[in-house]
Amino acid sequence: MSYRNHYNGTLRLSDVGKEVTLTGWVAQRRNLGSLLFLDLRDSTGIVQCMSPNPDELPDIRNEYVVQIQGKVQAKDVPNKNLPTGEVEVLIEKLVVLSKAQTTPFIIADKTDALEETRLQYRYLDLRRPVLQNNLRIRSKICHAAREYFEENGFLEIETPMLNLSSPEGAKEYLVPSRIHHGAFYALPQSPQVWKQLLMIGGLERYYQIARCFRDEDLRADRQPEFTQIDLETSFMTQDEILTLMEGFLKKAFKEAAGVDIQTPLRRMPFWEAMDRFGSDKPDTRFGIELQDLSLLKKSSFEGFGEQDYVKGIVVPGVAGSTSRKNLDELNMEARKFSLKGVIALKYLGGKLEGSFTKFLDEALVSELIAKLGLQEGDLLLLASSASRRQIDNGLGALRLLFGRKLGLIKPGTYDLLWVVDFPMFTPVEGEDRYVAEHHPFTRPRDEDLDKLDTKPEEVLAYAYDIVINGYEAGGGTLRIYDHDTQWKIFKLLGLTDEDVANKFGWFINAFNYGAPPHGGIAFGLDRLTMILAGTENIRDVIAFPKNLQAVDPTSKAPREVTPDQLEILGLNIADEE
Ligand code: AMO
Repeated sequence: MSYRNHYNGTLRLSDVGKEVTLTGWVAQRRNLGSLLFLDLRDSTGIVQCMSPNPDELPDIRNEYVVQIQGKVQAKDVPNKNLPTGEVEVLIEKLVVLSKAQTTPFIIADKTDALEETRLQYRYLDLRRPVLQNNLRIRSKICHAAREYFEENGFLEIETPMLNLSSPEGAKEYLVPSRIHHGAFYALPQSPQVWKQLLMIGGLERYYQIARCFRDEDLRADRQPEFTQIDLETSFMTQDEILTLMEGFLKKAFKEAAGVDIQTPLRRMPFWEAMDRFGSDKPDTRFGIELQDLSLLKKSSFEGFGEQDYVKGIVVPGVAGSTSRKNLDELNMEARKFSLKGVIALKYLGGKLEGSFTKFLDEALVSELIAKLGLQEGDLLLLASSASRRQIDNGLGALRLLFGRKLGLIKPGTYDLLWVVDFPMFTPVEGEDRYVAEHHPFTRPRDEDLDKLDTKPEEVLAYAYDIVINGYEAGGGTLRIYDHDTQWKIFKLLGLTDEDVANKFGWFINAFNYGAPPHGGIAFGLDRLTMILAGTENIRDVIAFPKNLQAVDPTSKAPREVTPDQLEILGLNIADEE
């Protein structure tokens, strides 16, 4: 006989009268003496089971795994909080399949258990419907990806996990070789080089749901081990690639979360995103845009240098309630972004208040009020910096802080846009050198190729990020496929012929044998799932995540290994100083 013939979460009024066999975990039991109620949970949900003869049943506790045979009946008083709330199952037979000790925390969506405890007992945590739902969304996104990309002629191809370490691979996880003592593989930070070689190999359309490894400082949206929906195509323009990817996003949003998104998506140039929102991943669901306040250079304040950018944000309605202490906190936040601090001005009672006003004459005050359209209660925060990126990043962070604090972001809304036209290079401060904004194989825009020799900092690239609700949910570029441009870029990045040969020789050689124009993108599967599951914690969408110390709390990896294991690998661990 089968273990069950129905799933608990599916029972409805239309099932009344049916004899059912159910299995699952006892989520809750209430013994009223003459009546016993059990909430029986399986992966589809919970249904209430009841028995008028509790004495005839075996001893049952929470989280026991049981099999129940019984009859579905309508409930006198429906429970509106449960999809199965109109019915219950009258228990005719109950078999205990597996007993359970008292669990370290109560297994329910709402829990006050510490996250570390939940992660230690992740297998119990995973029984919570909210987590199962997150993993369901994740699975549906993968399914949508496989279906969509297969339909569009992409091949799912696996690329190696054990790779050549790259010399600047500061974020790499290394794996020692047993056969070649002293030699190491590196786990992939992404399948980037392999997917480009697949294009040179003539495969034309590749995709993979790829595990990536990056040993970097962790954050709420960053894991050391994460998953990309990774793609590469040949012979497509940037526009064609973005349009094709929008089709995938549309399908994934619909199938994983029932959300309709309107395409084509907006495309915002990088510098517009920085100028207006102070971020290359702007959350455009609310205003408080950054304002250019160069006009304040006319003030008598000597702190604004000739080359400085002077910008500000206007936060509505908080001037009256912003205390000295609040302003100190804002200054601290601004300093995290290397700003000297922020200057606060309050528009109250039709007047601009704040010690900074002593640097402003009447005409400038009027000009400022008119430019910003100040309203009663507005708080104006100003900053200046010689670095455009610094001032944008700092004010952008304050903008986000207020957006969240003031509840300006409507929950359950989705805002998708492409950020395009990224700069090719970021200048290294104080040095006559650049670093690649994306990676050195990113293709400069055709119209900017001339500037490579004259104004490299102005060169924009065929690079695009998909930004959703302020998250970078994916990013990609068109790649360089001609030899001369590639070498020009290497030179600008300060690489010598020898460096190039050592670092990427094996890869670059492939381009000598006919490389097609190609490009691609990688979506962050974890981030897409976070967005659709409505959580800000990446650990909520990964079955077995690492904690912020990059430790797996369930198994406690990483751990020391035995001297024998080290010897086989030819490794010695130096004593810590
Ligand atoms: P990139 O480094 O921008 O591009 O990564 C692509 C996307 O992967 C996600 N992501 C992460 N998610 C969780 N934890 C992390 N530590 C993490 N790092 C990145 C983000 C990001 O947008 N090879 C290129 C892609 C290409 O050019 O085709 C790449 O890896 O959502």
